[in-house]
Amino acid sequence: MRLWRVAQEKEYWADVWGEGMRKFDVPEVYARIAEHVPMGSSVADLGCGTGLLLQRLTMERDCHAVGYDFSDQALSFARKLFLPVIELDLRNLTPDDIAGADVVTLAFTLEWIPDPVRHRILEACKDKLCVVAMTPRWTISTHLHG
Ligand SMILES: C[S@@+](CC[C@H](N)C(=O)[O-])C[C@H]1O[C@@H](n2cnc3c(N)ncnc32)[C@H](O)[C@@H]1O
Repeated sequence: MRLWRVAQEKEYWADVWGEGMRKFDVPEVYARIAEHVPMGSSVADLGCGTGLLLQRLTMERDCHAVGYDFSDQALSFARKLFLPVIELDLRNLTPDDIAGADVVTLAFTLEWIPDPVRHRILEACKDKLCVVAMTPRWTISTHLHG
């Protein structure tokens, strides 16, 4: 419970992405997500981290995929890969921010965001195809610290 509260703040993710989490990669999950994204879509990847899913969607699905995250560390890594990313706190997400997207992907992000914000995010995405991967928090905790 404590980790979950701390993880809602940007400072937590600065530490995470600064300390080796760049190796975080779950290719089998990204492949499953990609299967559900129509070829050539415009995608908003919310909580994009270092951009591994963005990269896959761009290269394998010919998507125009833009990532959104509030972690400077993660975004600077994605930018080094020339991936289009935007700094945004998802707690402030509005439908206008993702107006150009027809698909939204959320990979291991939604579980870190409390209600009612989580519902607001989903409301902002309601006219889009949403592909979501979530993990129970105890498993995420293992990823981070195991
Ligand atoms: C477990 S990581 C997953 C990253 C990426 N989707 C992946 O699969 O590698 C969760 C991401 O959500 C981002 N995040 C968490 N809360 C956020 C918020 N309120 N606004 C923007 N990004 C947030 C974190 O910075 C982190 O990059």
